[in-house]
Amino acid sequence: MTGGTGFLGSHIASELLRQGYRVLLLVRPNSQVSAHARVEQLLTWFGISPKDKRRLKVIEARMDQPDLGLTQERYADLTNTIDEIIHCASNTSFSERKRTEVERANIEGLQHILDLAARSKCYFFHHLSTAYVAGKKSGPCREEFVETTSFTNVYEETKYYGERILFEKCDDEGIRLNVYRPSIVYGSAEDGRSLRFTALYYPLRTILFLKNLFMKDIEESGGKRAQQMGVKMGTDGSLHLPIRIEAGNGNGINLVPVDFFIKAFMEIMDTCLEGSVFHIVNERSKTIDALVEYTTRYFNLEGIEAVRTEDFDKQSRNGLEILFDTYVDAYKPYMRDNRIFSNDKTRSILEKKNIKCPDLDYELFSKCMQYAIETGWGANLFGKQHQ
Ligand SMILES: NC(=O)c1ccc[n+]([C@@H]2O[C@H](COP(=O)([O-])OP(=O)(O)OC[C@H]3O[C@@H](n4cnc5c(N)ncnc54)[C@H](OP(=O)(O)O)[C@@H]3O)[C@@H](O)[C@H]2O)c1
Repeated sequence: MTGGTGFLGSHIASELLRQGYRVLLLVRPNSQVSAHARVEQLLTWFGISPKDKRRLKVIEARMDQPDLGLTQERYADLTNTIDEIIHCASNTSFSERKRTEVERANIEGLQHILDLAARSKCYFFHHLSTAYVAGKKSGPCREEFVETTSFTNVYEETKYYGERILFEKCDDEGIRLNVYRPSIVYGSAEDGRSLRFTALYYPLRTILFLKNLFMKDIEESGGKRAQQMGVKMGTDGSLHLPIRIEAGNGNGINLVPVDFFIKAFMEIMDTCLEGSVFHIVNERSKTIDALVEYTTRYFNLEGIEAVRTEDFDKQSRNGLEILFDTYVDAYKPYMRDNRIFSNDKTRSILEKKNIKCPDLDYELFSKCMQYAIETGWGANLFGKQHQ
């Protein structure tokens, strides 16, 4: 497995260990903490037993280098060991400024892992992709490889070209291939726990940051900055933040909790042995209206509203909206998303085991926010600075 120190990869690795699999993790070196120490910290977070840990092996390797930066001997050992590869490592940045690193991880890195697959006894390649390989598309996106050329950001683009390379190579080498395409994954539906606080969390964290900023200004500095931005305190203690959020055609954001993702992944991995593409998505996207309602209720706010694109530009953005946008710019395409992910194939598999994607209702939203805030949005997940 690659990406075992990441959000989804660590969940998959832990579940594999719990189910009795032998797991070999390729982890990149990190100058501050050894690969083993990083993995150990995660296994503790997951509560993996010493017995299950005995089936885990960690190897330091560099996916961005030919032969993964290993000596000939170690590389040869590796090729003799593995039979299936689960590739979760990826650079998930949307930033154009990081294009070189993103391409290196999502295209070159993938090619090196595919070389390993071709040179080893690997007969099945499991690849973590994203439903957003569909690129700048409106309407239905199918569970197959569909040619496209237009993307929202470098992440979508490199994941798409990665898939193309993957299909060709696995076909040439006779390696079976499952491509798992989740939409946006957040914390566990069971207890709200999460290891990552990007995607769904980031705009919410920004709202809370703005709330705290203006509350401080009002309470400690006379509230001049708040007044300039149209921010005011209500008599009931709520804060009025005049922010309109552009919500496309009102379709909403496709969100899946991580425990559903894991159940779906494991079921597909165990039963779909022919190889195919699977959309692990929510059949009902969450509207921005609903998310705004949850956010204002949870953080005791007023004034935030979801506005359809056709109405959004009728009014120019106010100062607070411009400020908010500078933080959440990368996520805006996902807030006004009109893509719909078909999931007939995945549904037919999951239905047999009654695996269903839970709805993000207010109760679940609150659990996730509580955990995010308790852990300082990930800063003290392990009781100290998150590595
Ligand atoms: N999370 C989501 O909502 C979501 C949704 C759709 C698809 N996906 C896909 O699911 C997969 C896992 O995503 P995630 O959310 O788990 O991401 P993540 O938390 O950012 O983890 C990324 C993993 O990749 C490793 N990695 C990144 N760049 C690397 C490089 N150059 N060389 C070696 N390893 C590298 C990281 O290692 P370090 O720990 O050393 O940084 C980490 O283990 C990705 O393929 C992503 O595209 C995720």
